[in-house]
Amino acid sequence: MKLGVCYYPEHWPESQWPEDAKRMRDMGISVVRIGEFAWSRLEPTRDSFKLDWLQRALDVLHAEGLEVVLGTPTATPPKWLVDEEPSILAIDENGNAKGFGSRRHYCFSSAVYRRECHRIVEKIVKKFGNHPAISTWQTDNEYGCHSTIASYSADALDAFRLWCKARYIRIENLNELWGNVFWSMEYTSFDQIPLPMLSVTELNPAHRLAFWRFSSDQVAAFNRLQVELIRLHSPGRDVMHNYMGNFTEFDHYTTGADLEIAAWDNYPLGFLDRDGINEDHLKKWYRTGHPDSSAFHHDLYRGIGRLWVIEQQPGPVNWAPHNPAPISGMVRLWALEAMAHGAELMSWFRWRQLPKAQEQMHTGLLLPDGTEDQAAEEVRELGTDLQVLASKGISTTDINENSTAQVAIVFDYAGDQMLRIQPQGINYGPLEWVQEVYTAIRRCGVDTDIVSPQATLDGYQLVVLANSIAIEPALQKNLKSFKGQIIIGPRCGSKTDEYSIPMTLPPGLLQDLLPIKVTRVESLPDFVELTTANGYTAVRWREKVSTELVAESSFDDGWGFYYCHGSVHYLNACLDSDSLLHFVEARLKDAEIETIMCSEGLRLRRAGGYVFAFNYGPQTEQLSPDYHYVLGCETLKPADVAVWREG
Ligand code: GAL
Repeated sequence: MKLGVCYYPEHWPESQWPEDAKRMRDMGISVVRIGEFAWSRLEPTRDSFKLDWLQRALDVLHAEGLEVVLGTPTATPPKWLVDEEPSILAIDENGNAKGFGSRRHYCFSSAVYRRECHRIVEKIVKKFGNHPAISTWQTDNEYGCHSTIASYSADALDAFRLWCKARYIRIENLNELWGNVFWSMEYTSFDQIPLPMLSVTELNPAHRLAFWRFSSDQVAAFNRLQVELIRLHSPGRDVMHNYMGNFTEFDHYTTGADLEIAAWDNYPLGFLDRDGINEDHLKKWYRTGHPDSSAFHHDLYRGIGRLWVIEQQPGPVNWAPHNPAPISGMVRLWALEAMAHGAELMSWFRWRQLPKAQEQMHTGLLLPDGTEDQAAEEVRELGTDLQVLASKGISTTDINENSTAQVAIVFDYAGDQMLRIQPQGINYGPLEWVQEVYTAIRRCGVDTDIVSPQATLDGYQLVVLANSIAIEPALQKNLKSFKGQIIIGPRCGSKTDEYSIPMTLPPGLLQDLLPIKVTRVESLPDFVELTTANGYTAVRWREKVSTELVAESSFDDGWGFYYCHGSVHYLNACLDSDSLLHFVEARLKDAEIETIMCSEGLRLRRAGGYVFAFNYGPQTEQLSPDYHYVLGCETLKPADVAVWREG
């Protein structure tokens, strides 16, 4: 695994660049990402390109032997462009333009903005495409950050109508599939279709789903425009985009199909506080991040491309409700954990804290005055660890080539979106549920891949569906021929592709696999816990099933709990964490997968013939003295890591 850093030469005097580059090298850094917000310095006014400074920055980094990831600057259209072409601005749900003054103020559907992006990206890739420092390109920055996928502009409206026409061909089909006879929502032409906004009450979920699919396709098309230019003028370089954590507002598989590398930006403490819906988690993990948050995303993005962490939290950030400091050791732990999950790069955001503008309170590896901040020490320590691992032949390549996960969780972006459109219960967190399932598997000491609904399932012993709401044909086919155990979670198969209840009742197409019908569902407030005769506790969501199969147990009111048909297991409720752990453990046993029960804060990862152990918890963990340790030892302190040879 290489070490990297995000650097903004345009923020600092040029005289400082050589010294910065040298210090990066000394710290063990070999990859530097630059350029992704620099449009106003690259083109201060229309066509007045100023690329020389970037040339010099690249030369300085190259002279120090640093490899560069160059970002295209399209996340920050400059003021002159916005003034000249205000139609490029995204329009919010209330019909207001999102103004200049921060970033990501553009509409993916704007033909004018795409033309402008083409112009600036072409200029940059033509100029620097063959610069020896550049190994990789980053397109834009964090598609969707600050809720910027959907735009309700005139361009989006035109493009959405065309998209609908291409998908449904005849307006009668759309009316029928969306159920537009309800509330007299029928259209007589595609030109009548509005964007889903400004309605009196709830919009048709099928309309919203179509708009989500359309918006997701717009991201992929916007990205592809840049990728094509890069491929043309910078042959032999990889292209990546930096995805986010806990973010599902576009289908990453579609955009990722055009890229070699699935990079992501990991802020474990920020995510926990900003996105967490569980107060208990915040109390436990506010200085470490949730023990599965980073790993979950590594596994998710590893299923989309070669895994990179291009931005990693080095200390307190500036954007969460609270911004605590990680306990010492976490910067190193997060990095080694990324490696164990197959990351080829661990890169911190950012090199030096900038004492100005929006992110002045965001830490870096250096303080604003240039002295080292605390993370720098751990980066150095990590350099030594990586040397030790390398001396034993442990490399990311090895880890990725010898992946041994026996479990696959299918992750479905459209399914996640369907659950958000009609949650049917305010406390039903679609992503949280998948993450709870992931946690249960990992607490059993078992590794899991996360795969797309299109992925082949060959080689796994257990496949888990947790958010497969509409079953894609490829998934249906692959499940039918799959020989291992299958867990189907609640709500899977409960909708058609066009957001209606299947006429055979849920789980719809999954009735291919087991003979059940869901005849009633209920969502439950947080204070309700329903216990089954065999001791499981259901929370938030429960389903009543009609079937000839015998339920394994039942609730007090007679609703059955959990149905098994050969190797297919239907879980008809969400469970609390202990119950889910027991349920998953039992299914792993059914699948003949060996389990090692881990405490709440301990996580294991088998990789390349070695086992990595990570301690997120507040207590020291005692591991076996019999292992052959290459890093750490049997006494695993909080925030510490141990690695031993398997077997
Ligand atoms: C990311 C973003 C960076 C920076 C960082 C701060 O979302 O890509 O540009 O803003 O957050 O944590």
